[in-house]
Amino acid sequence: MIVIGMRVKVLKFDDLGNVIGKINDKVCFIEKGLPNEELEIEIIKDKKDYSKAVIKNIVKKNSNRIEPICKYYDKCSGCNLEHASLKLEQEFKINKAIDYFEISPKYYETIDYNYRNKVSLHVKEGNVGYYKEKTHDLIEINYCHLLSNKINLVIELFNKYKDKKFNGEILIRENSKETMVSIIGEYQFLDILKESSIITNLISNGKVIKGNDYFIESINEYKFKVNYNSFFQVNRLGLEKIISILKDFLKDKNLNTILDLYSGTSVLGIIMHEYAKKVISIEENKYATEDAKLNIKLNKIDNLEVINKKVEDCIDNFQDIDLVLVDPARRGLDIKSINYLNKLKSKYLIYISCEMISLKRDLAFLRETYEIKELYLVNMFPRTNKVETICILERID
Ligand SMILES: C[S@@+](CC[C@H](N)C(=O)[O-])C[C@H]1O[C@@H](n2cnc3c(N)ncnc32)[C@H](O)[C@@H]1O
Repeated sequence: MIVIGMRVKVLKFDDLGNVIGKINDKVCFIEKGLPNEELEIEIIKDKKDYSKAVIKNIVKKNSNRIEPICKYYDKCSGCNLEHASLKLEQEFKINKAIDYFEISPKYYETIDYNYRNKVSLHVKEGNVGYYKEKTHDLIEINYCHLLSNKINLVIELFNKYKDKKFNGEILIRENSKETMVSIIGEYQFLDILKESSIITNLISNGKVIKGNDYFIESINEYKFKVNYNSFFQVNRLGLEKIISILKDFLKDKNLNTILDLYSGTSVLGIIMHEYAKKVISIEENKYATEDAKLNIKLNKIDNLEVINKKVEDCIDNFQDIDLVLVDPARRGLDIKSINYLNKLKSKYLIYISCEMISLKRDLAFLRETYEIKELYLVNMFPRTNKVETICILERID
């Protein structure tokens, strides 16, 4: 059933930053609405228990509604809170955390636009862009406001030198000194990219064409090698904030052993090595593990061990751990690791998560053994419904 022009009063945000209204007692999820608005909507999906709708007309506006700056905002699903003021975005994220964890978080903003140092783009017949959520429909872009200016310059190059026969993927990453581009597929203007002063490192189908297949990041007094296949936080200011939260927590703790799980290139392990006799990092990605091993040498660290394994395949080898830090991918922890963390009973557990929904699910189990002491939100992904959550827990004695 398609219903056009139906009027609805919006009640509140849902968990994904859409809003919820009610039509004849049935819940309706409306994209890009805001709380307390009155909207004319078009139902695009009508199920037994709920419906989904898009806005046709705003009858009564929330005073925190702003004009989105992105020209692709209506069709692209890369960000979904550009129509809300930063204040309202902050309220949405804080209220969600309070609702999920029953504790008020401390909230830290970063910068609202041009913060991402990494992007993966799809290419179809030379056109560069994102896939619309849950589809393979390409939203062609020339500029994305979430990406750093350097990354946007590289996108401009691909659009200037469009190769109609090029179908594939482009990964662009940058730090303050280097810009790294990795291409999968056959792109005929590689020589132009190679000559470009914007690009320092160029990799085509795994082969280095210019520079290196990694860059070196500097954070505080440390240096980190990061391969183009290794994880690194996408928002530099956000990472610096996480580090300062960690350092602040650790400064008066006298710890023997820290487990740093899902450790990437061991950025956090290296930061934490100052506060314990021994740190053990565990990471499954072989490139990130190789980087981590080199980073230990680069920074002359002698109390950090790096293990290249899946956490769930080795977590039960550890005992007498004072602090466990987990920083898993969006899907969160597996049940075996959760059960072992409950058995391990470390004095402290720090859970860093970019997905509050999986964090909430995992904490429901972990709260058998640990209680939440502090909660921080670092707005690592402004203008989207995501936020980095740092949850500090202590064993219940
Ligand atoms: C969100 S990143 C965190 C990395 C690191 N803590 C940092 O801040 O740079 C998650 C990391 O977990 C790794 N990973 C994913 N699943 C894993 C598993 N089952 N066991 C070990 N590492 C895993 C990924 O390769 C990635 O490097």
